[in-house]
Amino acid sequence: MKSLLEFARFKQERQPISMVTSYDAWSAQLIAQTAIDVVLVGDSAAMVMGGHASTVHADIETMAAHTGAVARGLNGQIFLVSDLPFPTHRMGLNEALKSADQLLKVGAQAVKLEGVRGHEDTVRGLVESGVPVMGHLGLTPQSVNQLGGYRVQARDAEAADQLLEDARSLERLGAFAVVLECIPTELAAAVTEALEIPTIGIGSGVHCDGQVLVLQDLLGLNEGFKPKFLRTYLDGAGLVKDALARFDSDVKTQAFPAKKESFS
Ligand code: KIV
Repeated sequence: MKSLLEFARFKQERQPISMVTSYDAWSAQLIAQTAIDVVLVGDSAAMVMGGHASTVHADIETMAAHTGAVARGLNGQIFLVSDLPFPTHRMGLNEALKSADQLLKVGAQAVKLEGVRGHEDTVRGLVESGVPVMGHLGLTPQSVNQLGGYRVQARDAEAADQLLEDARSLERLGAFAVVLECIPTELAAAVTEALEIPTIGIGSGVHCDGQVLVLQDLLGLNEGFKPKFLRTYLDGAGLVKDALARFDSDVKTQAFPAKKESFS
């Protein structure tokens, strides 16, 4: 398993960091057999696994259940980060520590939290308590209602300056990395240049120190979801539907099970 020290070295040596989400043991077992550097149990679990409209529906029990399953699947092979769900880190250090404790106890090595303004003390307190913190700036889905939808952030100079300041603030407070979601490529490049900690981009261009995608999106399993930033590496939905259609047909024609799939 790679460590925080290695991620810092990757930044210095300009070695890109790969991160994918996972919410369950079976996908974690597959990821554990690859060279992926970091696995994230995102609060996107509420949407992808729970069918909710936004990530605010993730609670700490859900996150701990998914994190435990992924940790068992990874079996210590890959560094595991888990999202602090809304609104835990906005409720002060005690609440944040309690939630972080639950996630670390079931197998996470670090927590990710969105934003920094208004909860600087919590970020500092978590880090000082020994909890590695990954920040998340730009399109912060927990604030989607305030942002007015899932859209590219920090397009004007004032918002870009604010985002750069927030990224610097996260670094000062002790975050070990920061996710930059859906911000212009040039701004992501400037933030990446300004920080000593790695930036991990999603929809933020090629100049970040690493990239993250939701597993189901990159496998083409999320059929309706086709944002500009996404590259799919598999026609997952097509393959799954084809397999299910063949199973259904084999059952109905009694081609399954065959003799070799039966006990005498
Ligand atoms: O919850 C999530 O999946 C995330 C990634 C998109 C970075 O935060």
